[in-house]
Amino acid sequence: MGLSGVASQKCISPPCGATFDVGEVLVACPKCGELLDVVYDWSKASPPSELRELEKYWTQRHNPLRFSGVWRFHDLLPFVDPDSVVTVGEGQTLLQQADGVAPFVGMKTGRLFLQYEGMNPSGSFKDNGMTAAFTHANNIGAKRAACASTGNTSASLAMYCSVTRAMRAVIFIGSGKISFGKLSQALDYGALTVQISGDFDDAMQRVKEICSRLGIYLVNSVNPFRLEGQKTIMFRVLESLGWRVPDWIVVPGGNLGNSSAFGKAFFELKQLGLIDRIPRLAVINAAGANTLYELFEKRGMRWKDGHGDPTLANGYFGELDSTGAKASTIASAIEINRPVNLMKCLRALDVCDGVVREVSDQQILDAKSQVGAGGMGCEPASAASVAGAKLLREEGVIGMDDEVVCILTGHLLKDPKATVAYHTTDQTEFDEVLGSRGVRRASFANRAVRVPNDLDEIIKAIQLYS
Ligand code: F0G
Repeated sequence: MGLSGVASQKCISPPCGATFDVGEVLVACPKCGELLDVVYDWSKASPPSELRELEKYWTQRHNPLRFSGVWRFHDLLPFVDPDSVVTVGEGQTLLQQADGVAPFVGMKTGRLFLQYEGMNPSGSFKDNGMTAAFTHANNIGAKRAACASTGNTSASLAMYCSVTRAMRAVIFIGSGKISFGKLSQALDYGALTVQISGDFDDAMQRVKEICSRLGIYLVNSVNPFRLEGQKTIMFRVLESLGWRVPDWIVVPGGNLGNSSAFGKAFFELKQLGLIDRIPRLAVINAAGANTLYELFEKRGMRWKDGHGDPTLANGYFGELDSTGAKASTIASAIEINRPVNLMKCLRALDVCDGVVREVSDQQILDAKSQVGAGGMGCEPASAASVAGAKLLREEGVIGMDDEVVCILTGHLLKDPKATVAYHTTDQTEFDEVLGSRGVRRASFANRAVRVPNDLDEIIKAIQLYS
């Protein structure tokens, strides 16, 4: 791996705190079963003394390491020798000052920003983490890599395998729970696609068993290296703001990898003296997949320096099992009831004085249409962040003058079916796709105008509607 002595893996549970070499392939602490972190002995690494120093890499874009929006921050994730990084040019993303969307959220001009992670090569934020996990997998000589996925992780893994030819991708998806945009990526990239009868939570359980049985490298976000890559989303946000720390980061919550990674990023930047304050974090669940909201906001589950009460989560999961409750939301990417990074996310909420909210499918799709109408669009799950920011503004939790960054995790074209159904004039199509999800009104629908194939009629329609 190189860089021995700089990085190690460490159990996040303070009573355990066992450490392991970065060369080991682990997705849980072998001693106590908790999640693992990648930790650094910064005295042996070369972190910048101020964030602005990282700008020196901007002039080195001919070097793939520095072209990457992940690896140009290698100094802040030095778990691997820079020479052995696997990159496909991920992380060329954009922070947009979203003045067109701000009024919908209840914000003033210049205060709302949207971070477009759908601009990544596979169309979602997953590439940030995948390049890191894939690099680790390649360094330890893995020949096959697997994941369970609601679609974006699988598209990303499949793409890294097809572009680099370094490994074979094995992906697990639930039945009927994946948007066609994402499924088509996995198929086109040539991944072995295993569709099991069950949902994401079932697929996640199976893939862990299969990987340990067959010795396949697991790239889901239980893999601590994935989250190292995802820290860089926050580094790019700060970079785009001229290294200013915003007041709020708002992110959709599914498996809770992003929120966990963001908390770690800010904790480390503060520890290194590179920022003087940490932004607040808002994690937004879909109401039909609201485990974090239920545990954090309703049942008071907290990190408590790693001593939070796990019986709260176990009790809740027991209730889900006994009633046969399954996650259900139009935002299929975050249709997850058993988030694997729950404990790390609780830690992030603690570090970032965070809050959790849930939003309905109606709120998600209305927000999504506004991101499209005033910005560059996103997939349903991503719009949960904007719907959540609007809710927090209405509650007064986010203030009038706060600077807010919503993370748009995936590209608009990932799930065109939901978008077209929202804008359609066809009631049957609307009901089939959206009605069954409790969506009753396409409040901001931009309906196609139907006209006969007649010049006068077409001109009349254009004059009437434009
Ligand atoms: N947004 C999108 C577009 C996603 O694909 C996901 C997760 C999330 C948000 C949630 O992020 O897990 O870090 O809280 N998708 C995973 C997948 C589960 O398999 O593609 P998280």
